[in-house]
Amino acid sequence: MSYFAYKNGVLHVENTPLTEIANQFGSPTYVYSKAALVENFSAYAQACKANGRDESTSLVCYSVKSNSNLAVLNLLGRMGSGFDIVSGGELLRVIAAGGDPRKVIFSGVGKTQDEMRLALSHDILCFNVESTAELQRLNDVAGEVGKQAPVSLRVNPNVDAKTHPYISTGLKENKFGIAYDEALATYRKAASLPHIRVVGIDCHIGSQLLDDTPLLEAFDRLTELVDQLSEEGIHLHHFDIGGGIGINYNNDQPVAVGDYLTRLFQKVDQWRQRRYQGAPIQVLFEPGRSIVGNAGVLLTQVEYLKHGDGKNFAIVDAAMNDLMRPAMYQAWHGVQPVTQRAGAPKTYDVVGPVCESGDWLARERALAIEQGDLLAIMSAGAYGMTMSSNYNTRGRAAEVMVDGDKLHLIRQREAASELFALESVLP
Ligand code: LLP
Repeated sequence: MSYFAYKNGVLHVENTPLTEIANQFGSPTYVYSKAALVENFSAYAQACKANGRDESTSLVCYSVKSNSNLAVLNLLGRMGSGFDIVSGGELLRVIAAGGDPRKVIFSGVGKTQDEMRLALSHDILCFNVESTAELQRLNDVAGEVGKQAPVSLRVNPNVDAKTHPYISTGLKENKFGIAYDEALATYRKAASLPHIRVVGIDCHIGSQLLDDTPLLEAFDRLTELVDQLSEEGIHLHHFDIGGGIGINYNNDQPVAVGDYLTRLFQKVDQWRQRRYQGAPIQVLFEPGRSIVGNAGVLLTQVEYLKHGDGKNFAIVDAAMNDLMRPAMYQAWHGVQPVTQRAGAPKTYDVVGPVCESGDWLARERALAIEQGDLLAIMSAGAYGMTMSSNYNTRGRAAEVMVDGDKLHLIRQREAASELFALESVLP
């Protein structure tokens, strides 16, 4: 269900009108629905349960990069979520939010020695290793600190995720993962290293996938590897299928999470029956967007309307520094007036105040609006705040979490003085 709906002509988040949020906290402000977050996480948790899984046979590791606010991490952690991280900073966030580091998996192609030390000191669940050089470095660092590093190799299954090229990661030409044909040799190498403990296999083929066919295909490709490894005496404890399930931005119809998980678990069960007398393997998921994407909007106010020759602009107080996705991927986000107005709509480009032609949030939208109106940029919960910047010395937006009719400020708006507090002039 949608927790963003009009009541008496005013767009609400759960039971709270967005006008109320603008009055209290100003704009631009990211606004999240707690109920939506809970529902989206529960879709994964319930599908695991419905397919007979417990924590020893399934673990949802929320992808922190999609929205890393402490309140979001804390809420998901309390629901039992693990976390997929890509930096030492994200690990420190998870810990600050009360998340369990022993449910953390560490992805990413460029882990530094310091990040490895930090993660080892917190006994994370697994390092998803993306190259031989990284494997070697991790072995050395683990040896220095007297530990064995738990490792999965991120294998590139070379399947086409059929999504935007910038967010497709499972093809040969991407920088991610270890090539399928090199995976066996790399596993043998990993198994021979004294400070590495091989525990799993991992892939992540892309993001905003509407169909689960490429994921199931990737699963099949990787099971062949697992079988070959097991014949060589290398037995894996978990299988990480990555994240990637998409959301509805613009009449998109993503596969339902429950349906995807059920199909995947059926495949897992058939495979384990066929090859391993039904012995289970723990399945890991790394969802981001499908948990937070449609749980958040970006609330913004129209500063000016500019009616030009054949082109109308709504200049708003949010910009590409707040929400990069349109500028970066030509991504489409719905735009809804917070208070509905009568009158004929005009066609507008919704743009920000930043000095770049690429600074737009939406193009050619029919809107009945006036100066001072509030707009909601929809589906902005994932890769919104986390990708924001301070370009043009703009403080980042505030973040508010709505819980029914209760409002929680979960990140204050940045003040300009904070933006240059770490800088100094020459003596
Ligand atoms: N696991 C790994 C290793 C990833 O690289 C990602 C996302 C995820 C999990 C989570 O994927 P999700 O379930 O959210 O699709 N900034 C882009 C998306 C970049 C995705 C990067 N990796 C956007 O705004 O569309």
